[in-house]
Amino acid sequence: MNMDDFNQPQAQAAQWLRTSQRIVAFTGAGISAESGIPTFRDSDGFWREFPPEQFAHWRGLIRTAFTNPVRLAAFVRAVIEPLSVARPNDGHLALRKLEQHRKLIVVTQNIDGLHQTAGNGCVLEVHGSLSEITSLSGKRRRILTTAQIAHITRRLHRIQRRPFALSRLLLAIRPMLGAGLRGMWRPNVVLFGEGLAEPAWSNAVTAVENCDCLLTIGTSGLVYPAAMLPAKAEASGAKVIHIDPTEGGTGLWLRGNAGAVLPPLIHAAFEADINGVN
Ligand code: OAD
Repeated sequence: MNMDDFNQPQAQAAQWLRTSQRIVAFTGAGISAESGIPTFRDSDGFWREFPPEQFAHWRGLIRTAFTNPVRLAAFVRAVIEPLSVARPNDGHLALRKLEQHRKLIVVTQNIDGLHQTAGNGCVLEVHGSLSEITSLSGKRRRILTTAQIAHITRRLHRIQRRPFALSRLLLAIRPMLGAGLRGMWRPNVVLFGEGLAEPAWSNAVTAVENCDCLLTIGTSGLVYPAAMLPAKAEASGAKVIHIDPTEGGTGLWLRGNAGAVLPPLIHAAFEADINGVN
């Protein structure tokens, strides 16, 4: 690629990455959109069909379980089905490539595990992971495999063919509730009103306060406390680059989809001849 093809913000971002030693990538739902997982707040996002007032916290979920299990089943399926088949896209793979050049910590709000599947070595999941269940005390964890999630999806498909009661829904999703294990279990995901996952969150704050450059990718930056990370990075003297199709404020913005913007950016930063044609 000729550097003349690059516009000024892209060239600036490439230079910032090249001259940084410790980089943090702070990702949101947007980086997984091209893997077929809907975001939350875009026009086709989860919260359009399943309003957060009802579905983003335990109180609402439990109430829905008793009043409308059919609707809760539709929500669970909408969350887990895309994740059970999703593969990392070019955006995830570009972050894997970045890690071959610089120390990179990925801080993600996503629960889909796609950064790990792409091969990134240090991923801090501050909103938890759908691939884990936890005891209610938070002291014990177990893996929920992709095969189990796919199996739950199939069972939900099956029961949704005709009217059903809550007991059938609980049976269909029982691996997510720790069936066969002692005590009470739940998916290890953070809902509204809960503290962020630890030690991921404390480690994320430390990483951000000590990085030279923070890349935010595909997040609306509306959900706190995670959304405070870019400001924290800036306050600690780090450069901040935002990648998102929707520009949202001050700073250096590269507008576009992660899968389109990240690969040429990483290429320009580390692989291209910085004086011209590679
Ligand atoms: P949002 O849905 O709020 O924002 C998604 C962002 O991704 C928007 O800024 C989009 O413009 C952008 N986007 C869409 N497609 C993209 C693409 N192909 N490449 C890059 N960016 C793209 O999702 P989050 O910011 O992740 O928390 O939401 C934060 C939290 O709100 C979630 O972790 C979840 C949710 O409620 C909890 O449930 C605790």
